[in-house]
Amino acid sequence: MITYHPAHRCFLLKAQNFFYVLGVSPNGDLHHVYWGKPLSPTAWGRLFSEWEKRAVETEHHVSREFQRREFPDFGHNDLRTPAFQLEHADGYRISEFLYDSLKILPGKPDFGPGPSSRVEETDHAQTLKVVLRDSLHKLELDLYYTLYPERDILVRRTILRNRGSKPVSILKLSSASLDLPPAQWHLVRFPGRWANERQWREGPLQEGTLRLESRRGISSHEMNPFAMVTRGPADEEKGEVYGFVLATSGNWLIETELFRDQSLRINAGLNDFNFKWRLEPGKAFISPECVLAYSSQGFTGLSLAYHRFIRERVVGGFWQNRPRPMLLNNWEATYFKFNHEKLLRIARAGKEAGLELFVLDDGWFGKRNDDTTSLGDWFVDRRKLPQGLRGLSDDIHGLGLKFGLWIEPEMISPKSLLYQKHPDWCLHVPKRRRRMARSQLVLDMSRPEVRDYLFEAIGGALEEGRVDYVKWDMNRSLSEVGNEILPPGRQGELYFRYLMGVYDLMDRLNRRFPQVLFEGCSGGGARFDLGILHYHPQIWASDNTDGLDRVFIQYGTSFGYPPLVMGAHVSSVPNHQTHRSMPLKWRCLVAMSGNFGVEADITKWKPSERKELADYIQLYKEIRPIIQFGDFYRLESPYQSNRAAWMFVNPDQKEALLFVFQINPTTIGEKVKGLKLKGLNALTAYEIEGQKVKLSGKKLMEEGWFPKAFKKNKKSYQCELFKLNSV
Ligand code: DGJ
Repeated sequence: MITYHPAHRCFLLKAQNFFYVLGVSPNGDLHHVYWGKPLSPTAWGRLFSEWEKRAVETEHHVSREFQRREFPDFGHNDLRTPAFQLEHADGYRISEFLYDSLKILPGKPDFGPGPSSRVEETDHAQTLKVVLRDSLHKLELDLYYTLYPERDILVRRTILRNRGSKPVSILKLSSASLDLPPAQWHLVRFPGRWANERQWREGPLQEGTLRLESRRGISSHEMNPFAMVTRGPADEEKGEVYGFVLATSGNWLIETELFRDQSLRINAGLNDFNFKWRLEPGKAFISPECVLAYSSQGFTGLSLAYHRFIRERVVGGFWQNRPRPMLLNNWEATYFKFNHEKLLRIARAGKEAGLELFVLDDGWFGKRNDDTTSLGDWFVDRRKLPQGLRGLSDDIHGLGLKFGLWIEPEMISPKSLLYQKHPDWCLHVPKRRRRMARSQLVLDMSRPEVRDYLFEAIGGALEEGRVDYVKWDMNRSLSEVGNEILPPGRQGELYFRYLMGVYDLMDRLNRRFPQVLFEGCSGGGARFDLGILHYHPQIWASDNTDGLDRVFIQYGTSFGYPPLVMGAHVSSVPNHQTHRSMPLKWRCLVAMSGNFGVEADITKWKPSERKELADYIQLYKEIRPIIQFGDFYRLESPYQSNRAAWMFVNPDQKEALLFVFQINPTTIGEKVKGLKLKGLNALTAYEIEGQKVKLSGKKLMEEGWFPKAFKKNKKSYQCELFKLNSV
């Protein structure tokens, strides 16, 4: 729990498997003292005396650069990258925030609008609020640390309050900052591109500053707002791992600076690029959350902590603990070419195969036969759907399926009635060209009248269609981010105001339709983040449905995010994105490792294929609770071997699932090692269905087991799912 130790002027945040310590230096600067494994009393004493020596500032000009500071300011004699920067009314950009006071609060305060992880009664969570003050300008920085001790999670955010009489401009404000001691630091990050999101990349950090970021107005395909640093190289079981996940969906930044002494500074929060926020007297600016986690036992420990936390404290509402319906989406089945009958035929085949929800994707509104028109005109196209959304949804419901609908609220097509009426509603800079992407412009979500229109128009469509599920898409990055409403000095606020507008609309629609299941999407997975997950309990992981690429995408994603929130669909072959034809079994087992769906015109599939699909759907229904609410373990990385293997284990450890995907044939002479299973009860015996194998959890985890079939496997793309039951 959180305690203050006045003798040392230190704060100790004690979680089950880590200590986090801050201290106030003799001159009032807030220092980072320690974050790592729990300490013995002797180690604790040593740590303090070392810190106390270091904390004394000497007249030597570089002394502060060898201190570890908790929320470093700028302009004095620590010239490493600051956690924040302000511009005062007098034009100076130098601040000096010194320790003022502390408060230890039960649970977590309400931070108002925007994504926020929850605290529930069972949590024993506490929040430390440390107040730093710049007395010259009467500014206050509140650093918040919400500790979930049993979850090994620490949630940080920052508030700047202007208690002075003049405005101040915020040029940068991190949510969290951290100075880690000299070590051989490695970085794990998740870059990507459209149709290849969240690829695992690991390597040692070199001296200098590295910015992982998005400047696109969305969290982006190019880099996910999640990173880990490890002390030396780590693996799934070994090594100290520090995780940083931002709960924001717009421009974000995680920057690392490896200093000349090999110490590491990390700042995480909103991107300072093109950001400037004018804070009037009496006002406060609240940063988004950064969710920190620590594991002294490699990546597995960290992923487990994040998975449980996201499932239980980030995702909320009606769907939080409910099994997610298995859906059939018509996008790859029809694209824009469909009508009532065609959709119904596909839906009927889906129902026969055992699916539970039919989703009507893009193209149902305005006059949208391709992607060049109609975004903003959220009323049904009667040429395609003469009986309206209600007619279609009644028929779909009549089949015993739930009905879902695609929307892309934040967009406007210049070819639309909405644009004719409100050409000024898009983001734009007066007298400058408005650049399109996918033939569309972006609505200015900072404007309340735009959000009110969308709330009514989209709300009306959802009501008319008695919709049970919504896919909220967003298909381009922001450009020409300007509007004619904000005064000249405030244009730097627009990216963030846009984002808060998006969250506001999400929140209003959630409240109006509390039982509707929303799925986030952004050209696949360009907004795969905790901000979205606060509002939408699942996210379409990628537009790439190719079974092989998906192994890599889902494997990468799993480091930070649980399989429950990863939309994963089986599609037709040859695959529409890669033109590759992966075996149906492989496609199914990959999709079954996430939040399963189908995205294909299965009326065109052979009866044998439909039968095989139906069998997997049936199987998924049986194992869905383990996949969606069990614990996930990575066993073998496709990034480092010819195989991917992972497991799901029920919380009571009585059932487990082992998935193995082998990409290339086993080469002659290759020594296939046993797969060391994880998460089992060492003292329990397990039977592996269909394998005539009965072994103890201990043996399976310590010595490993490998299915015979893979040892002399002569074909590419072999995969298997094994069920383990305790006996
Ligand atoms: C991008 C999404 O990721 C796809 O699944 C699909 O909904 C299209 N947009 C529709 O335009």
